Amino acid sequence: MHVFSYLLGTALAMLPAVSSTGIIIPLYVWPTDDSTWTPVYEAISAHPNIGFQVIVNPDSGSGNTTYPDDNLITGVSKLNSYDNVQVIGYIATNYANREQAEVESQIGIYSGWSSYTAKNISVSGIFFDEAPGTNDSTNISYMQSISDTAKGRNLNTVVFNPGTTLEKGAASEYFKAADLVVEFEKPYSEWTSAIPANELSSSENYKKDAIILHSAPPTADYKAVVQEAQSMGLGALYLTSSDNYMSIDTVPKLAASFVQ
Ligand SMILES: *[C@@H]1O[C@H](CO)[C@@H](O)[C@H](O)[C@H]1NC(C)=O
Ligand SMILES: *[C@@H]1O[C@H](CO)[C@@H](O)[C@H](O)[C@H]1NC(C)=O
Ligand SMILES: *[C@@H]1O[C@H](CO)[C@@H](O)[C@H](O)[C@H]1NC(C)=O
Ligand SMILES: *[C@@H]1O[C@H](CO)[C@@H](O)[C@H](O)[C@H]1NC(C)=O
Repeated sequence: MHVFSYLLGTALAMLPAVSSTGIIIPLYVWPTDDSTWTPVYEAISAHPNIGFQVIVNPDSGSGNTTYPDDNLITGVSKLNSYDNVQVIGYIATNYANREQAEVESQIGIYSGWSSYTAKNISVSGIFFDEAPGTNDSTNISYMQSISDTAKGRNLNTVVFNPGTTLEKGAASEYFKAADLVVEFEKPYSEWTSAIPANELSSSENYKKDAIILHSAPPTADYKAVVQEAQSMGLGALYLTSSDNYMSIDTVPKLAASFVQ
């Protein structure tokens, strides 16, 4: 028995400690050349035990061309070369006011990227931005329906971004329809002055909750934020100095703040 538990302990110690909290990156910086996304590639390759969900955004959605621009093709295929990355396509829904048919056509275009043969530009899911969080049956069915469309097209990771706490009565529906819900997208200072449990609808959903914190000052305590998210068991987080996601310089610092 002692030998067994010794062996078990050794085996467990040898397993890579995969963080259940991942990093979600709104990678909206346009890759003008092969080096634009280097800080992201470096963070990904230096931290194989962190799962990264990387959101790409050709044009507030897929755009209307069958395949994206060459620079994006190069970038997405590079992201797909890492085992710890899921590439997620961005679609703005304008709080459930964007024509559903148009959202569905954008889903179809992202799904079609998997037919590109020269490189692997498949996406694994969709990030629905400007998601409503209201307890309104029309809004709820709109979000359920576009989630079903994505999943029906093999885009199996669905993220909703209301950016704020879901309304009571609606949270269970949104969490059922999505794999991850961003319930907090605000400046760093608002998160650190808030009580996290008051910002997220229910601790039962923490593993499917994400937070996106921007405008972090140079003095921001990345480790404290990351380690709190890890101890709460949140699904994913992002923390950046940028106020518009156009700088990715702090991605390596964010990744290095994880306990592994
Ligand atoms: C794509 O096409 C739709 C319908 O033709 C149009 O409403 C939309 O503005 C177009 N989107 C872009 C990004 O050009
Ligand atoms: C493309 O990349 C994705 C993400 O890494 C992977 O799941 C998929 O199997 C790859 N497809 C091919 C054809 O290699
Ligand atoms: C859907 O949600 C948006 C944003 O919260 C809200 O403005 C709109 O009134 C909701 N739709 C309905 C029909 O209530
Ligand atoms: C949410 O909306 C449903 C349907 O309109 C209603 O029955 C329920 O009471 C609402 N929940 C809350 C907490 O307002």
